[in-house]
Amino acid sequence: MVAKRGIQVASLRGRRVLVRVDFNVPQEANGQVADDRRIQEALPTLNHLRAAGARTILMSHLGRPEGRHDPRFTLKPVVHRLSAILGQPVPLASDIIGIQAIEGSARLANGEFLMLENLRFHPGEEANDPAFAAALARLGELFVEDAFGTLHRAHASTVGVPSRLPSYAGFLVEREVRELSRLVERPERPYVALLGGAKVADKLPLLASFLGRADTVAIGGALAFPFLAHRGHTLGATEVEGGLEDVLVEFDRAAMGAKTEIVLPTDAVLERPGTSATDVVEIGAIPPDAIIRDIGPATVARFRGALLDSRTVFWNGPLGRAEDPRFAAGTRDVLAHLASIPGYHVGAGGDSARIAQDLAVTSSFQFLSTGGGAALEFVQGTELPGLAILPDA
Ligand code: 3PG
Repeated sequence: MVAKRGIQVASLRGRRVLVRVDFNVPQEANGQVADDRRIQEALPTLNHLRAAGARTILMSHLGRPEGRHDPRFTLKPVVHRLSAILGQPVPLASDIIGIQAIEGSARLANGEFLMLENLRFHPGEEANDPAFAAALARLGELFVEDAFGTLHRAHASTVGVPSRLPSYAGFLVEREVRELSRLVERPERPYVALLGGAKVADKLPLLASFLGRADTVAIGGALAFPFLAHRGHTLGATEVEGGLEDVLVEFDRAAMGAKTEIVLPTDAVLERPGTSATDVVEIGAIPPDAIIRDIGPATVARFRGALLDSRTVFWNGPLGRAEDPRFAAGTRDVLAHLASIPGYHVGAGGDSARIAQDLAVTSSFQFLSTGGGAALEFVQGTELPGLAILPDA
């Protein structure tokens, strides 16, 4: 792990500090913050800046408004929550790099905060437009990167600004890098990857990255369906992502060469359309009208067995449709079991941390990342542009 220069060595008193945070939080239908974990996890950095007397200008994106002002993605609910958590008002500069932002940042007193409106309202953010990056950079004297979840994006705020200002890693970025590096650099063995969720095509690079690095890869959720279909099983009315035949042949060949054991479901909890009844059936016997919604008890036992002697576990994605209480048991039972297994357990990517919270299994993990795609790329060993650009310690 290459340590990055951290915020603790920066001289901050009275300086205007631009801080990239990832406040891309889940929202309720009315826009309110549904889960403030990403805000809470930024507090060590924000409290440090406040105590040190910095004048802090916060930058974040929210959702994917695609370069246009879209009121559904305003950061107003976020600054509302942030102000309550910090116990002091955090005004929002709605013009991002306009007069409000310029005057607002110039007026800041030591220990105060200003937040810029959603960076992705401006087309220059995702395009890493030099003029937009320069205008952002002019608002501050130093840059602090604390948006771990956005480090895989080469955008104006993550790459353009740090190339123009003295830059430092915030505490959240430091912590995420330190924890996730334990999975990349000599993990204690046996190392088990427990993977679920959907979007097989997107997750194949992640899956493939575990071949030769993990001892076992246990696959559940919709991620398992193409693998099961590829092994000749008919999966009833279950929707199976197609067009992956060649990739799966190649994956199986690589898995065999790498001596990584692939563990797939042997039974499933089914939903029968038109009824609220659920059935448990072996994978070889799925009726034509049934849809697989969760792993069955035999698979839970198999996955638990695979985890039993593990020393390192990486988990990403639900093993069934965990948001529906009828189909949450598989994910919950396997993850709850982890709590009794000694070793280093990390959950990362997508909604994994939130699912762990909803299923009350957070105590099974030593670390739950705030990162979605960024965490998955990091764990694969991919260089993240927002991290690469920060100076080494
Ligand atoms: C995330 O939630 O993964 C980050 O905030 C990045 O968001 P993005 O995938 O829209 O770039």
